[in-house]
Amino acid sequence: MSDMPQTEQTSEVPRHVAIIMDGNGRWASARGLPRLEGHRRGVEALRRTVRAAGDLGIGYLTIYSFSSENWSRPQAEITDLMGLLRRFIRNDLADLHKSGVRVRVIGERDGLAPDIARLLTEAEELTAGNTGLTLIVAFNYGSRQEIARATRRLLDEVTAGRIDPAQIAPETIGRFLDAPDVPDPDLIVRTSGEQRLSNFLMWQAAYSELVFMPVFWPDFDRAALEQAIAEYHRRERRFGGLVARTGS
Ligand code: IPE
Ligand code: IPE
Ligand code: MG
Repeated sequence: MSDMPQTEQTSEVPRHVAIIMDGNGRWASARGLPRLEGHRRGVEALRRTVRAAGDLGIGYLTIYSFSSENWSRPQAEITDLMGLLRRFIRNDLADLHKSGVRVRVIGERDGLAPDIARLLTEAEELTAGNTGLTLIVAFNYGSRQEIARATRRLLDEVTAGRIDPAQIAPETIGRFLDAPDVPDPDLIVRTSGEQRLSNFLMWQAAYSELVFMPVFWPDFDRAALEQAIAEYHRRERRFGGLVARTGS
């Protein structure tokens, strides 16, 4: 609609939203339910959020689904979480594909159960040509581990003589991260009231706006996402300069 007034920068949705989906266990405990029930309801919240993000025109949605440190949980809970991931991909992949969602996965692939590794690859390959929302699943992901992987890849290039160590800049390191072409998150949301990154996107978060919400993840919905975006729009992004830029 070319005769419509130009949308103001301040009303634009953030291009990349990343979410630390936290509080499933506490949601369940508060109701006298097993933690697994919280995780199940968390998957439903994820479905709602992916739909809402697509509708709102967000370009990239990164979700923290299992951290490198989550292996320290009881084996029974790990088994439950792996089962939910398998079921999510098996049940939802066709729908995501139909909606034009492109699925990508960041995190360590080595050492995963072979069927899970295959499902992740299948999701990426099936949806590789889609041009709608890019859904980046951070699975078996830790930011320090990602930076260590990037360092190993970078050093291979140095050893092969293709990169001069004297020329290594932040952008050089960025090129070796798990999803180097994805723009840094504009907005990082964490649910459950905790106010920390827990090893999530620490490199990419250099200038992200952080929004911490008191809601447990299973209760997250479109309204909560819109609330986080509204808070983002109230922020002034300066990127180290003097000219304030409202979140865009
Ligand atoms: C988030 O919920 C899901 C994962 C970390 C896999 P939690 O399981 O961390 O729930 P709380 O933080 O114990 O309530
Ligand atoms: C971060 O939540 C990881 C995910 C949401 C997948 P945690 O519940 O594992 O984080 P901590 O232990 O409270 O920092
Ligand atoms: Mg937690």
